Amino acid sequence: MIAITGATGHLGQATIQALLTQVPASEIIAVVRDPQKAAALQAQGVQVRPGDYNDQASLTAAFAGADKVLLISTVETELELRRQQHLNAIEAAKQAGVAHLIYTSVVNPSAESPFVASPGHAATEADLRASGLSYTIFRNTLYLDLLPGLIGESTLPSGKYHSAAGKGKVSYALRSEIGEALANAMTSSGHENQVYDIAPAPAYSMRDVAQTLSEVSGQPVEYVAISNDDLKAALRQHHLPEPVVELLAGMTQAMEQDEFNLDSPAFEQLLGRKPTNLQQFLASVYGK
Ligand SMILES: NC(=O)c1ccc[n+]([C@@H]2O[C@H](COP(=O)([O-])OP(=O)(O)OC[C@H]3O[C@@H](n4cnc5c(N)ncnc54)[C@H](OP(=O)(O)O)[C@@H]3O)[C@@H](O)[C@H]2O)c1
Repeated sequence: MIAITGATGHLGQATIQALLTQVPASEIIAVVRDPQKAAALQAQGVQVRPGDYNDQASLTAAFAGADKVLLISTVETELELRRQQHLNAIEAAKQAGVAHLIYTSVVNPSAESPFVASPGHAATEADLRASGLSYTIFRNTLYLDLLPGLIGESTLPSGKYHSAAGKGKVSYALRSEIGEALANAMTSSGHENQVYDIAPAPAYSMRDVAQTLSEVSGQPVEYVAISNDDLKAALRQHHLPEPVVELLAGMTQAMEQDEFNLDSPAFEQLLGRKPTNLQQFLASVYGK
């Protein structure tokens, strides 16, 4: 049996839908903090169990009978709380007798990264290695799905795309395809104690993104370089909460520093085909 946390989130849903094409629904445990949000999964025959990252005992009960657990990283951004939530899940897996834990990390996890989630991922990877559990780490790059949010609603009408990412390049991966790759890894052998960079080539600069957006939409889009301070000021002008300003500014700084600029064959190998690229994705969203 395979238990999946964050099962009502985007990546959890994508992974479960991919798993359902490979294993019976009764072999899948969806671990959710709000079972009311999981009615559709229940209707598909998936076992829905309550589990909160802040409550280790709930996770131990939810993982009962599972031989594999997919721990989807939390949305919590405060470092110590983030680490503790993941540690609760790791400890719960041990107590429940789970053999193998799969964790969704980030590329180049580091305590020094300006990307707010990165130090927590580095800490959890260390906790997982120290746990004695057999593990697989998916170091996910940025989701392609984030781009429409970064592009925003004013880019096409104004014909200008402002970015503080400089010349930094980013490898992107489509979230639904990461879900497929996770499902494939959990239903095949040979992934014990492996670390996969889910970061396919090519990586793109934000100038590349603006140019591709222009091509697929048929509208001119000029790339405009701004500083990270300008970015923060613009986000504050839009009344975004300060933690969101810091998250986006830190992520952009990490982009500028090439933290997401990798070229790994792992994603294509796990997926069994070429992943969706920038041009295909932007055409599906903005195509004429
Ligand atoms: N690579 C990237 O570009 C990128 C971008 C954004 C996030 N991420 C990371 O990747 C993870 C998965 O992405 P996603 O798009 O699937 O995010 P998502 O849609 O926000 O899903 C996050 C899931 O975590 C669950 N969760 C949060 N706190 C919890 C708690 N205390 N106990 C139990 N479950 C809890 C949420 O439950 P509810 O459904 O009840 O809210 C949700 O199911 C995120 O959580 C984040 O760590 C990566």
